Order: sequence, then C-alpha cells, then structure tokens
Amino acid sequence: MFTHKRADFGPDFLFGVAMAAHQIEGGQTDGRGPSIWDTFANTPGNTRNFDSGNIACDHYNRWAEDLDIIRNGGFDAYRFSFSWSRLIPEGTGAINQAGVDFYDRLIDGMLERNIKPLATLYHWDLPSALQDRGGWMNRDTTAAFADYAAFAAEKFGLRLESIATFNEPWCITMLSHFLGAHAPGYRDVRATARAMHHVLLAHGLGIKAMREVGTNKNLGIVVNMEKCDPASDKPEDIEAAALGDAIFNQFFLDGVLKGTYPEKVTNILDPHLPKGWRDDMATLNQPLDWVGINYYTRFLYTADPCVPVFPFTQARGPLEKTNVGWEIIPEALTEFLLRVSQRYPNVPLYVTENGASETDEAKRMSFFDRHFAAMLDAKRQGVDLRGYIAWTLIDNFEWAEGFTPKFGIVGMDPDTRDRKPKDTYRAFQKMLTK
Ligand code: NOJ
Repeated sequence: MFTHKRADFGPDFLFGVAMAAHQIEGGQTDGRGPSIWDTFANTPGNTRNFDSGNIACDHYNRWAEDLDIIRNGGFDAYRFSFSWSRLIPEGTGAINQAGVDFYDRLIDGMLERNIKPLATLYHWDLPSALQDRGGWMNRDTTAAFADYAAFAAEKFGLRLESIATFNEPWCITMLSHFLGAHAPGYRDVRATARAMHHVLLAHGLGIKAMREVGTNKNLGIVVNMEKCDPASDKPEDIEAAALGDAIFNQFFLDGVLKGTYPEKVTNILDPHLPKGWRDDMATLNQPLDWVGINYYTRFLYTADPCVPVFPFTQARGPLEKTNVGWEIIPEALTEFLLRVSQRYPNVPLYVTENGASETDEAKRMSFFDRHFAAMLDAKRQGVDLRGYIAWTLIDNFEWAEGFTPKFGIVGMDPDTRDRKPKDTYRAFQKMLTK
C-alpha cells in the first residue's frame, strides 16, 4: 500500500494512468496503414526476442475492459495516444473511417465512465508513407502533422480534456535517429538535427492549427527529462554532463517555450540543422496551456574526446535500480519540477509519466510512493503541479525491449491476454477510490 492519501495532493489534483497506441492496440486491422514501428519491430535484430506490437495487448478489441479497469482503479484520467496511420493510413489524405469510429468509441467509453481523456497525437508511430518521403528529416512532414492535428482536434477536440502534440521529442529524435535504438533506426547526425528541428516545428504548426480549429483550448507537449550527472568531479566530466543536460533537458523545452536552442547544442549541430532554422523559432514558440514531464532516472557522463559529435559516454550509476537497471532517484523529480517552473514561469505542469519495471510489487509500490513524496515536496515549494499520470496500466510492448520489461500495474497473461491486476493496482485503488 502507499503511505500517501489522495487528500495530500489537494482537491483538484488529477490522477491518471497512461498507455500509447502502438504499445497496446495491436494489428493493422480495419484499414490502419503501416507505421515505422511495424516495419522496425518486424525486422530481425531491432527488438528483444523479435517481439513486436503486432498483437500487443489486443486493446483494439479489449478497450472496454481496459476502461473498466481504469475506472475501477479510481483514476480520474486516461492518457492515451492516437495512431496517426489508423486515422489517416498514408499520413496525409484519405481518412480511415473505422479508425475514427474506434477512437469515437474509446473516447465516449471514457466519458461514460467518468474518465477524462488526455490525448497525445504522436507517440512514435509515424505513418510509413511519410517515412518513405524522409519522415522527420523532411520539412513536409511538419505540414502533414499540422493537418493531422487539425483533423483530430475537429473530430475529437470537444470531448477531450487535453491534447498533447508530441510525446518525448528526445526519443523521437536522438534515440531514433542518432542512437539507432528506435524506429526508424538511424545513426546519423544530420538526420538527427533535422528531426530535432522539424519535430518542434511540427509542434508549433500543430498548436497553431488546433487553435484555429478552436475545439480544445488545453494544449501542451510532453517531454522526458533525465538527470545528467558527471561521473566524477573532473571539470571535463562536469562539462560533459552539462552538454548532456542541454541536449536532454533544455533543447526541446527552450525551443517551444522560449523560441531558442541552447548554444552548447547549436554550436555542434548548426551545420546539420536545416538552413534558415532561426526563422522558424517564432513558430515553435506558441503559448502552451500546460507542459507534461515524463521522469524515470539518470545517466552519469564521462568526457571522451574520441567520441564524435557529442564527446562523452553515458553509464548507469551505483544507486538502487529497477529491474531494467534504471537508478531510482525521486528527488530529481522535485528538482526538475522546480527547475521547469522557474525557467518557464506560468505554465502549469503535469507529471505525465513515471513508473518502474519491476516484478516485485513491494518495490514498485515503494517507487511510486517515493515519487509521490517528491511531487509533494515540489508543490510545497510552490510548483504549479496539477496532476500525476502513472506509467502504465497494463504490461505492454516496451519498444526495442519487447515484452520483457514489466511497467504495468496490471499484468497480462501472454497466451490468453487476460488482464491480472497487481498489488500496485490495488494500492492505487485504495488511495484513489473515494
Ligand atoms: C517513455 C515512453 O513514453 C513510453 O512509451 C515507455 O514505454 C515508457 N517511457 C517506459 O520506458
């Protein structure tokens, strides 16, 4: 059980749980077009055990049961994502009515159960047809995204509590175009720089387009923040960690909330960024109604002049870890919340993801409980923190790591796909059910 009570967070604090389309829905069913994650996961060597999202949690068919589990857990909100290629199979142009119907059912199902729908437009599954034309390397993808955002806002906006443009731009760009670990699996600095800029430009154009539609006024973005600590107190390691921090924790938020990029990063990436990128910065910098922070862990940085582009290596440190080796550092969540609220004043914050891959429920509950304490600490220090969304409801397709990690507060039988609530689910239920 948790040591915290719902009342500790104040009357309007929102508790939710999150999942994302490709990790749970399954299937190119009912007219969905392929996405980059379909081909990436179905190519040998990219995911652990050749796991894929082909069936995933079969949420496409079991969505009603999953919404019941969310409601019975006492959660106020469900953070979900639209699959772009389920709605618009080629990324632009023709609409897939079956996809629209699916999200209509899902959203109405939430409203019937008194669950607030928190939508994300892009949680990594770019339509393959757009990747064929260069994906995030191609500026045209930004216009395609803005059209998709306007379409989604028009169809669903009135029923949605909030809309986020992107989930975790660092993963969409660095992890996927520089480190090659996620779709489309590039290791190319030019591809990375272009993707970094184009994703944020798409965010700005998407926000503008949705404001014009006017059906939803609660628009934001979700970034992941990871503590960047030097591996030693040598000045070069301290500088390496500062560069890591500028890439991970400043580039994307400065881009959208200040209309600038940190110089530490542009000094390196400028030759690879699209020509004239500075002219786009005002478009990136749209007023936002909230910002979501996903927080899990940290990396230690060691300077290494032999490493091209960003001259450092990263490693995990010695602290207590979850079963995927991620160190547990709740106080860094307090630090990030304070830092973001001070650097970008007057933007309400949400913790939009936080959770642990564990098989030991006592450890998972303690992880959540310690992060609750970290949030309360931030709130006491004046952070305008409006809610907390746990990652994740059901054990699901953890991208390149396949089904091995267990982030769910509900388990899933691998053969029958039956859902099995874990102790942590019951702890949330006890804390949240009034
Ligand atoms: C980040 C991502 O948004 C989500 O898709 C992923 O499963 C979790 N964090 C855990 O790694």
